[in-house]
Amino acid sequence: MKRSVTVVGAGPAGLTLANLIQQSGIDCIVIEKASRSQVETRPRAGVLEHRSVTMLESLGLADRLLMEADRHGTCEFRVSGKAFQVSYSDLYGGREHFVYPQQEVVKDLIGGFLDSGGDIRFEVSDVELRDLTSSSPSVAFTSADGTRETITSDFVAGCDGFHGVSRTSIPEGALQEFTHHHGIEWLTILAEAPPSTKATIYALQDDGFAGHMLRSATVSRFYLQVPVGTKPSDWSDEQVWEALHKRFALHESSWTLTEGKIIEKRVLDMRSHVVEPMSYGRLYLLGDAAHIITPVGAKGMNLAMNDAATFGRALIDFYGTGSETGLKTYSEDCLRRIWRAQEFSQWMVNMIHTDVSSPFFGRLAQARLEHLAESPAYRATFAENYVGP
Ligand code: PHB
Repeated sequence: MKRSVTVVGAGPAGLTLANLIQQSGIDCIVIEKASRSQVETRPRAGVLEHRSVTMLESLGLADRLLMEADRHGTCEFRVSGKAFQVSYSDLYGGREHFVYPQQEVVKDLIGGFLDSGGDIRFEVSDVELRDLTSSSPSVAFTSADGTRETITSDFVAGCDGFHGVSRTSIPEGALQEFTHHHGIEWLTILAEAPPSTKATIYALQDDGFAGHMLRSATVSRFYLQVPVGTKPSDWSDEQVWEALHKRFALHESSWTLTEGKIIEKRVLDMRSHVVEPMSYGRLYLLGDAAHIITPVGAKGMNLAMNDAATFGRALIDFYGTGSETGLKTYSEDCLRRIWRAQEFSQWMVNMIHTDVSSPFFGRLAQARLEHLAESPAYRATFAENYVGP
């Protein structure tokens, strides 16, 4: 098989790229280890930045999103029982967040790609990347029916996440890796509960952080900071609700938390990871294959889509005019935004957790939250980063 571009991985990065280049007449194929129904139902992120929505609109793939997504321009902080809001949209040109679950984005991208004749192979296994430094790298895989296939292409887009084969196909030492373990764990909860809030809530109590994030009219996402080493089974559903009630409690308000059936409970070890450069020969890394960010600030899916837009433009230029400029600057173009997001996420992690590495950091978090509550200038900077620069 021969294709101009082989895309490894059908998540937001790979599928955005595939739609973008296919619409410009560049032939490509997408291969994915999971089944179509798995990728279309995997609950992950849920917040799209204005810029990501604009890109989906330009691909003609935002109709359902624009109809169904809730728009948000305010978030709330609760510190020891007292609340304050930050209207980030008003502070940053009216740009809002769109709450639209990642699996819905994936559904729309798969639909759009297949409708325009795209080729996606689901349930492939034993993926191998070869000859990455030659001008015709290849990707071998076993397809769902057991046939071994090899695709030769001009470029390989590695969009298969942190645990995928793309990054690990690059020889040791060719990439510089930047890793940070934040020393924080969250119990992540998905519940069949209607939202108890119109705005994302970040709550901080003596015993830790709790977050109330939005997904849909019937499903909500909650996060609880838990001791490092916690297992999901350490927490009964009753204990989860009890902790959420306690951490969200307000002194002077009749606000209540609506409970619901817990449909997912996992532990998330907060870490950050970036590789430089984001390419090796003709292999380009996109999304989680190149960088992991904490969920704080909701940047992950948006960074992945930005990588896709950047690499897509570089390929369109290359095939249109022969220019390699975009390919050469792909990594540095993406990394500027990635590091800016990492810096913001880290800043926010330290603001919304107690005692991240010592009681000293607990006091710094309090000072930072007070600054945010009091200072219009500080809130404006927060808004710029939160909305997405
Ligand atoms: C989420 O929707 O899961 C989310 C939103 C905002 C955050 C973190 C997570 O800061």
